[in-house]
Amino acid sequence: MKDFTHFNGDGKARMVYVSNKDITERTACAEAHVMVNSETFALIQSGGMKKGDVLAVAQVAGIMGAKRTPEIIPMCHTLNLDGVDLELTLEPETCSVHVLAEARCTGRTGAEMEALTAAAVAALTVYDMCKAVQRDIEITGLRLVRKTGGAHGDYVSDKGFRGEREDTSGPALCGMLERYGWKTAYTSIIPDEYEIIRAELLKCAESDIALILTTGGTGFSPRDVTPEATLSVIERRTGGIPEAMRAYSMTITPRACLSREEAGIRGRSLIVNLPGSMKASTENLSAVIEALEHGVEILRREGERDCAV
Ligand code: MTE
Repeated sequence: MKDFTHFNGDGKARMVYVSNKDITERTACAEAHVMVNSETFALIQSGGMKKGDVLAVAQVAGIMGAKRTPEIIPMCHTLNLDGVDLELTLEPETCSVHVLAEARCTGRTGAEMEALTAAAVAALTVYDMCKAVQRDIEITGLRLVRKTGGAHGDYVSDKGFRGEREDTSGPALCGMLERYGWKTAYTSIIPDEYEIIRAELLKCAESDIALILTTGGTGFSPRDVTPEATLSVIERRTGGIPEAMRAYSMTITPRACLSREEAGIRGRSLIVNLPGSMKASTENLSAVIEALEHGVEILRREGERDCAV
């Protein structure tokens, strides 16, 4: 009992001393899902809920919740939050509101309780805004998605940054590549952090991996930094690849132009960004997969320059 710093000398709970911990930049991201019925979903979507704009109110509630975390979670330290950001997305496939909350601070303890509280309070606010029209709304899947900057190292949930996204697009891309004769050397799920993406790309290129695909983080959200990280490591841009992917994708959805995907060469490796969802990533890859084989072959062929038609 004496050695365990979460208890005081009398064996009573106390807020642990953290003065010996390093002050570092920390981020934490948490999510939750609010499951509603189709009538409630339509009212949220149309802005027709009597209490007002559900998503806008929940967004602000989440920020307020994060700031109050140490008041309601007994052993939480009072943090100087550097920022709190929420993204509330309507998901028609599951008739739900997806809440994603990010908390940032520079300090001695992590901001995961702030991120979780923000997600929980935003989800509860969605409930409160909609309870007059539906009683059996369910809040599910409140969890930490990722955390960076602590003494125990970074954490990324195995389900990836955006719920199910990476879980489905990664294996789908591997399957597609294998059907075209490629062998998967390595896969990993990392957070949307510029430095982490950069380090991972450099590691793959240094391991002489012929084709390095990224999925996700190519859109307009402030967290979408994969193209920037990619541009920072490539030596030669291969603009034709994203051009071809977007041109093909525009025949499927007008939103295809929203992907800022890049591609380029570092050493003997070709790096190609793809959007995050399984549908978008496989559609994009299908537009270029045959050409990639030829490109990589030339890239890794010593001394020969001719090109088959
Ligand atoms: N490309 C194809 N082929 N199919 C799609 O459904 N979705 C678009 C775009 N490219 C899409 C697509 C959308 S809606 C976005 S926001 C961008 O990719 C960025 O996706 P990301 O943020 O997951 O990288």
